[in-house]
Amino acid sequence: MNNLSCGLLLDYSRSNRIIVKVLMVCLGNICRSPIAHGILQNRIEQKGLAWEVDSAGTSGWHDGEMPDRRSIEVAKNYDIDISRQKSRKFVVSDFDTYDHIIAMDASNYNNIRALARDDSDKSKVSMLLNYLYPGENRQVPDPYYEGGFDVVFQMIEKSVDKMIDSISS
Ligand code: 4NP
Repeated sequence: MNNLSCGLLLDYSRSNRIIVKVLMVCLGNICRSPIAHGILQNRIEQKGLAWEVDSAGTSGWHDGEMPDRRSIEVAKNYDIDISRQKSRKFVVSDFDTYDHIIAMDASNYNNIRALARDDSDKSKVSMLLNYLYPGENRQVPDPYYEGGFDVVFQMIEKSVDKMIDSISS
């Protein structure tokens, strides 16, 4: 079967594996989604996956900024460098670019789905912690005001690892 005969436009790397494209999304794209982005990028490199990852925020309030210093610091404690990431706003064309759009909390999830043009767009959106706790709709707490960056890092890490297993299988 090829791309035309199965009616889908699948993306292949040079090694002929399907490229999975993942977008991590939170509100500001400076605290939670940069951590999720950095962890998945780390796993892509460690496991040699033909995946691509980016992150975005629903607000655009921090466009062009680097991640919050507390996110940079906690990621660095786990040997992950997220200091070169830049915040950007989620755009509708992300539905065309990405296969999986992964929200950190219910507000992000609802805001992204409100921009969906059709059921295909909607079906790409999920909440990260549902990979670890299926069906429970748990949320990654926003650490911007309250802190708790280490707890946030660890829950994102466990969920990202489950997400890789789930999408790969
Ligand atoms: P994030 O956290 O959505 O995890 O990046 C926030 C960052 C900034 C703000 C709120 C949450 N803010 O109000 O500017």
